Amino acid sequence: MKVVLDHLTKRFPNINIKIKTEVVAVDDFDFEIPDGKLIGLLGPSGCGKSTTLNLICGLETPTEGRVFFGDDDVTKLPPENRGVGLVFQNYALYPHLTVRQNIMFPLQNLKGADKLTKQQMEEKVLEAAKLVQIDGLLDRKPSEMSGGQQQRVAIARALVKRPKVLLLDEPLSNLDARLRLQTREEIKRIQRETGITTIFVTHDQEEAMSISDLIVVMEAGKVNQIGKPQDVYDDPVNLFVAKFLGTPAINVFDAEVRDGVLWIAGDDVMDGVDVPDQKVWAGIRPEAFVPDDSGKMECKLVNVEVMGRDTSVVSTHEGMQGVSIRAIISAENKVDQTKEIVNFRLRPAKVYLFDKTSSKRIYFGDQKPLGRA
Ligand SMILES: Nc1ncnc2c1ncn2[C@@H]1O[C@H](COP(=O)(O)OP(=O)(O)O)[C@@H](O)[C@H]1O
Ligand SMILES: [Mg+2]
Repeated sequence: MKVVLDHLTKRFPNINIKIKTEVVAVDDFDFEIPDGKLIGLLGPSGCGKSTTLNLICGLETPTEGRVFFGDDDVTKLPPENRGVGLVFQNYALYPHLTVRQNIMFPLQNLKGADKLTKQQMEEKVLEAAKLVQIDGLLDRKPSEMSGGQQQRVAIARALVKRPKVLLLDEPLSNLDARLRLQTREEIKRIQRETGITTIFVTHDQEEAMSISDLIVVMEAGKVNQIGKPQDVYDDPVNLFVAKFLGTPAINVFDAEVRDGVLWIAGDDVMDGVDVPDQKVWAGIRPEAFVPDDSGKMECKLVNVEVMGRDTSVVSTHEGMQGVSIRAIISAENKVDQTKEIVNFRLRPAKVYLFDKTSSKRIYFGDQKPLGRA
């Protein structure tokens, strides 16, 4: 089922009633979520992710705009009639019910023609439990299970009615690191097996990048960029997106373009920058740095750490006080650790320039806009 967000806007009165201005939680979200895909809704806390989900499932009504499931306008439909499955961070299981009863719960209030016999319900529960691999635990109470298992129960409960759309709001945030990794792989598998259009909300860029077919990067209610994770990483439309994606984070420097040359802290670090002379933000991905004795960026080595295939290099630059430069060097390029100084040249494809005022991307050389702003 495709989900169409048609110019969705949600404004709330300010929580502080003395402030008359409204909070624009979601600002003109306009996108068609393709059928059967897993969409990662990514952004910092307070950017409007949960509000977007609530508009899709009907827990909130939009101030402006409409929501379609397929060709049906569901904007005015109550949540229970939309056919959505919801999973939250805190599992929200009934503690006094067994796993079986928790999963069965949504089936018990079906009315009329949809009403199921006890045996049909049992079958559906077992099917959902198998899908999330907890079919051996059906007689336990939630308190007798780990967080990861409880979240599986919550997912099974969301799936038992075969929803048209599955919505997950930070479902992994309460799990420890190992379980988070495992459960996110599980969610990916379940989504593939069921083919249910799924929207996965997270503030964790790595989580969103690893699980999603498409990611939507939001900031302060506004969609900044939508695209395949790798495309958004490789081609951020603005400084916010560039900084939000990637670990280690992109290095951002005060820089200037003069006569086609990029200058950072007094070094002419790269040429071929065919844009008008101006001051810019230069965003340089850690993997853009190539150790090269003739490289123009001269840095002082602080720390070199071999991490399996790659090497992490932290350095500083004379012209930039208090700035640590983080580089990831691939195996074929060695850094001489006995030296105090390392010279870098930059891979132009991994260097991004941004307007000093608008923070929008400035494309140069072979770079071209990709995705949508
Ligand atoms: N019911 C509400 N009343 C007033 N403001 C709200 C309400 N719900 C959310 N907000 C505000 O809307 C913005 C987006 O919130 P939310 O969608 O919960 O963000 P996220 O899920 O990305 O952390 C925040 O500024 C939040 O304070
Ligand atoms: Mg939220």
